[in-house]
Amino acid sequence: MTQLIEQKVNIPEKQAYSYDILIGRNLLENADEIIKKYTKANKLLIVTNETVAKLYMSNINIKNSVWLILEDGEEYKNIENYKLILDTAVEHKLERNDCIIAFGGGVIGDMAGFAAASYMRGCDFIQIPTTLLAQVDSSVGGKVAINHEHGKNLIGAFYQPKLVLTDISVLKTLPLRQLKTGLAEVLKYAFIEKSCACPLNYRLFDFLKQNKQEIFDLNPDIMSKLIDICCTLKASVVNQDETEKGLRAILNLGHTFAHSIENLTNYTVYTHGEAVGAGIKMAFKLALIRGLISKDYFESAMELIDDYDIAPVGFNLDKEKFYEEMFLDKKAKGGKIRFILPNSHYSVVSVSDITKEHVFESIDDFM
Ligand SMILES: NC(=O)c1ccc[n+]([C@@H]2O[C@H](COP(=O)([O-])OP(=O)(O)OC[C@H]3O[C@@H](n4cnc5c(N)ncnc54)[C@H](O)[C@@H]3O)[C@@H](O)[C@H]2O)c1
Ligand SMILES: [Zn+2]
Repeated sequence: MTQLIEQKVNIPEKQAYSYDILIGRNLLENADEIIKKYTKANKLLIVTNETVAKLYMSNINIKNSVWLILEDGEEYKNIENYKLILDTAVEHKLERNDCIIAFGGGVIGDMAGFAAASYMRGCDFIQIPTTLLAQVDSSVGGKVAINHEHGKNLIGAFYQPKLVLTDISVLKTLPLRQLKTGLAEVLKYAFIEKSCACPLNYRLFDFLKQNKQEIFDLNPDIMSKLIDICCTLKASVVNQDETEKGLRAILNLGHTFAHSIENLTNYTVYTHGEAVGAGIKMAFKLALIRGLISKDYFESAMELIDDYDIAPVGFNLDKEKFYEEMFLDKKAKGGKIRFILPNSHYSVVSVSDITKEHVFESIDDFM
């Protein structure tokens, strides 16, 4: 049975960029029919990786499509594979109104999206995200990029898809560790909900407390609702700040700390979500030290994070290096780090006058 939740992302004054997010079960089987409503493409290039292709290639049957199957891994989100996507588009004579489809997690979404943004100055682009992280985060908001040897996501663009087609059925094959990496971003939305300028009041924090078992069991109704809430919150933020001039920074809760963890461990030890989970804890500790939040709220946040088991501890990293690394984050401006910190239940503020001592104190418990 197909269950559909339709969600429209609206970018003010750029109505051409508003797009639908369809969330439901077993949508892959109907992809051909659904996609036709969103693109007039005569040819479609489906970009995926070996893992996703092995699992789901046979579930999708899109007419006039060609497949490009790349190797699986963050290390392949590079200029060579980006070029390979463009070469394939040229080889199959894709035109400007033809379509590139990203079928996979955030790596494929970012890379295929950047290829779509630049092929003939922008061809149609559709996302079919297959990881929880991609379904709640990377497929929404229009950031597309590839890595450079000197930095992650160093080469990219803002480019909105025509459609995000989210089939929750594919989550059943996702390894638990990857599910949790998506859940770290989900919990992040719970802690920033009130700052998202979203007129709807979901109380995601309570939803997560009440539905933990259903979420880990991938209960379809709960997962659809969960993904819908997260996409709405992210869309609400992006709608008001498409190109990251202000509000969008709240999406970085925990990410300044995560950046140091990921960089000092060369992106090989922890998943992004694990680093973010730990980073959110550190941000809460810093907020507590600065007197921004009550001990009660601090403790209830720690309890939720521990309950979902998304934040590892025992990083064994050098604190000086950890601190220095924070300044190398591309979000640090003019030698100042802007911390997104909780300041009351489910809301956050941007704070820049944080001392080194306070940073040390906030990371101490987790090292
Ligand atoms: N554009 C944005 O706004 C944004 C936001 C967050 C993250 N990102 C980017 O997203 C990337 C991380 O995305 P990710 O966490 O999805 O990683 P990923 O794309 O590497 O996927 C994780 C792993 O899961 C596998 N996989 C995917 N779908 C599966 C399924 N249904 N069943 C079983 N295995 C499956 C993949 O093959 C891979 O091995 C990073 O490159 C990051 O920079 C972008
Ligand atoms: Zn993130």
